[in-house]
Parts: sequence; structure tokens; C-alpha cells
Amino acid sequence: MPGWVPLPMEPSNNPIAEEKFQLGRHLFYDTDLSGNGTISCESCHQQDKAFTDGRVRPVGATGEVHPRNAQSIANAAWLRTLTWGNPALTEIEQQVVVPLFGIDPVEHGINEANQDMVLARLQEKPEYQSLFAAAYPEQDDPLFGELAWQNIVRSLSSFVRGMTSFRSDFDRYNAGDVGALSASAKRGMNLFNSERLECFHCHEGYTLTASVRDRRITPTVPAPFNNTGLYNIDGISGYPAPNTGKYELSGNPADMGRFRPQSLRNVALTAPYNHDGSTATLRDVIRNYAAGGRNITTPPHVGDGRMNVNKDPFIVSFTISEAEIDDVVAFLESLTDHELINDPRYANPWLDVTVQDTAP
Ligand code: HEC
Ligand code: HEC
Repeated sequence: MPGWVPLPMEPSNNPIAEEKFQLGRHLFYDTDLSGNGTISCESCHQQDKAFTDGRVRPVGATGEVHPRNAQSIANAAWLRTLTWGNPALTEIEQQVVVPLFGIDPVEHGINEANQDMVLARLQEKPEYQSLFAAAYPEQDDPLFGELAWQNIVRSLSSFVRGMTSFRSDFDRYNAGDVGALSASAKRGMNLFNSERLECFHCHEGYTLTASVRDRRITPTVPAPFNNTGLYNIDGISGYPAPNTGKYELSGNPADMGRFRPQSLRNVALTAPYNHDGSTATLRDVIRNYAAGGRNITTPPHVGDGRMNVNKDPFIVSFTISEAEIDDVVAFLESLTDHELINDPRYANPWLDVTVQDTAP
């Protein structure tokens, strides 16, 4: 991690440690950690796609389709809130429980009835004996004892927290390598930071999102959630349920359609876009912003998002040429960390084992 990046927050009951990171990495890639043995975190968070899945919406262990698009998990340690629209999820430890045990939708499909069986599958694997012992040396029996599930959640969280991504051309440029960005990407960066496009207000700073926290910043305002005018169902500013954003939890009509501003790091690898995967390409995202929202004229979600009453004041229409769109896309592409997607540290550790097993 470069020295100019402030250290992320770290919960006192789960301090960062390499052994927990490595155990978490094994669990992240293990389909045995699911009710029917078919799904791992990787199913929806794949390294070559900056830990997204390339689908409009992902599919869980029992075939249930998730209502929202899979998010990248790199740099999650710096986010003020986790997931697209939930202001209450502020700790990675809370978030990780959702895919494991959630029922709406079912992702890993672990529940009261099968959790002992799932754990037994892990307990049978020789690799986990030493991995758990190394991660929790203070416990007598970290894999078979009563803290086993807590240990699983904390290790997975450590893996997520330890996954950092600050090695893009944009980072090299900021570190003083003026040649790291093409002329087009530089023009795009200036457009991105201009009062014409307004992007930087919500996608700001070293994380490229206003939803940031670290050890220096003590936030004084509530975590940001913005309505970007994607929908206006029935002309009453509705968003299609259940994807109503912050409103889903608060019930406050002003929160309808307000979602967390995404980090734009690695965004060129994470298509399709927006909370429901409803925008196919980066050009389409930029066109929606240029129009000041999205006007949908064909069912099922007909409505003029440009007229949404909850739209953020910074979502204003602007004129932009095709060449300028190319420049903004070039800038967004400069946020790609090619080392992240090839870094053996974040890769599937079980594949290494297979290679060793088959070696002569
Ligand atoms: C079935 C697909 C699926 C599986 C399996 C899955 N996730 Fe996710 N993940 C998602 C989706 C979809 C979201 C966005 C959720 C939302 O907004 O409600 C998400 C969000 C996240 C986030 C929040 C990222 C952010 O930017 O706030 C983290 C962290 C995360 N997942 C980690 C994990 C871990 C760890 C596992 C394995 C225990 C896992 N996920 C398994 C689909 C999945
Ligand atoms: C008012 C705050 C705000 C402004 C201004 C803004 N964005 Fe966003 N951006 C968001 C929010 C919130 C989302 C998620 C919206 C959703 O999916 O409902 C988002 C999503 C995106 C996404 C999709 C990310 C993903 O992972 O799917 C991209 C790309 C993006 N913005 C780029 C831009 C660009 C380029 C501009 C300037 C033209 C811009 N944004 C201006 C708040 C903003």
C-alpha cells in the first residue's frame, strides 16, 4: 500500500493479521462453505473482473437471483457503509454474514438446519486444521470449538479488509509519473473534475467515492446516498422494489432511490453498472448523467428519471461530445489496477494445492 493512502479503520475485536487473511482467503474460494456445496464468495466476486461477476444480477446457491448487481470488494476497508443502499451496514464483519446466512435472497444458503453439516465439511479438510490454529492461536479449538463460525466470519472479513487496490495508472500519475496517463485520460480527468460534469462531488478523493472513512477522518455528516435519476415509476419518483435504496430501511420518501456513490476504482472491469446492473456500458452511464437522468420509455419501468423529485442537485444535464465521452472513458480506464487482477495474494489458494498434488 502506498504511503499516501491513510490507514483504514480496523475493529478492535478483529485486528488485521496475516494468518486470518490467509484463512479467509481459503474460505473465500471454498464451495464447501455453502448449504449445498455449489457456491463460494468467488462465484460472485471473481478476481479477473475486479471481484465482480460480469452478470446483470448474480445467482445464489439455490438458483435465486439477487436483486442487486455484485460489487467489487477491493478497498472495502475504506467504505463508510457497505453494499448499495444499506446505511446500517458499517462493518465488514456484519456484511459477510449476509451472503452466508441470508434468506432474502439465498446466496450461500447456510441455515440452522445445515450449518453443522457445512462446518463438518470444513472440519474434515486437513488444510483447515493448521490454518485455523495459526489464525487463532489463543483458542484451544478454533475449528471445532463454539467460536468456529465467529472465526470464519472474522477471517473472511480480514481477507476482504486486506484486499487493497492502489496500483493503477491514475495512482502512478498522482505519485508524480506524469506520463502514466494518456493525453485522452488527462482530458477525461479534467472533465470529471469540472463544474460541467460534476462527477467529483460524489466520486472524490483517493477512493473515488464520497463514502469514505479512514483513521484521519472523523465523519461529521451522515454517510452519503444519492438519487441519480435512474427511475421515476408512475411519475411519482418511484424506484422498482425491492431496489429502493436507503428508503428500504428508513421508509422516508425522500430516501427513495438514494444509493451509495460507488468507488470508481477498477470500474472498467465491473460491467454492467448501477445497483441493478441496468446500465450496460460506461458510455451509457455517462449518457445517463449527460441527460440529467434516465428516461425509460418501454415497459416494465416506464418513467422519466430526469424528473425524479429526489434527484441530487449535482445530477444536472450537460452537453458532451462523443470525443469527450471517449476521454472520460479513458480516465475511468486509467483507474484499473491490473496488478490486483493478477496478484497471487488474492488468487484461489486451492488451485496451488492441486498443482502440487499433480506434480511428479
Ligand atoms: C450470489 C452472489 C454473491 C455471493 C455468493 C457473495 N456475494 Fe458479496 N455481494 C453480492 C452482491 C449482489 C452485493 C451487493 C449487495 C447489496 O447491495 O445488497 C455484494 C456485496 C458485497 C460486499 C460489499 C461491497 C461494497 O462495496 O460495499 C462485500 C464486502 C462482499 N459482498 C463480500 C462477500 C463475501 C466475503 C462473500 C462470501 C462469504 C460474498 N460476498 C458472497 C453478491 C454475492
Ligand atoms: C450526486 C452524486 C453523483 C454524481 C454527481 C455522480 N455520481 Fe456516479 N454514482 C453515484 C451513485 C449514487 C451511484 C450509484 C447509483 C445507482 O446505481 O443507483 C453512481 C454510480 C456511478 C457509476 C456506476 C458504478 C458501478 O459500479 O456500477 C459510474 C461509472 C459513475 N457513477 C460515474 C460517474 C461519472 C462519470 C459522473 C460525472 C458525469 C458521476 N458518476 C457523477 C453518485 C454520483
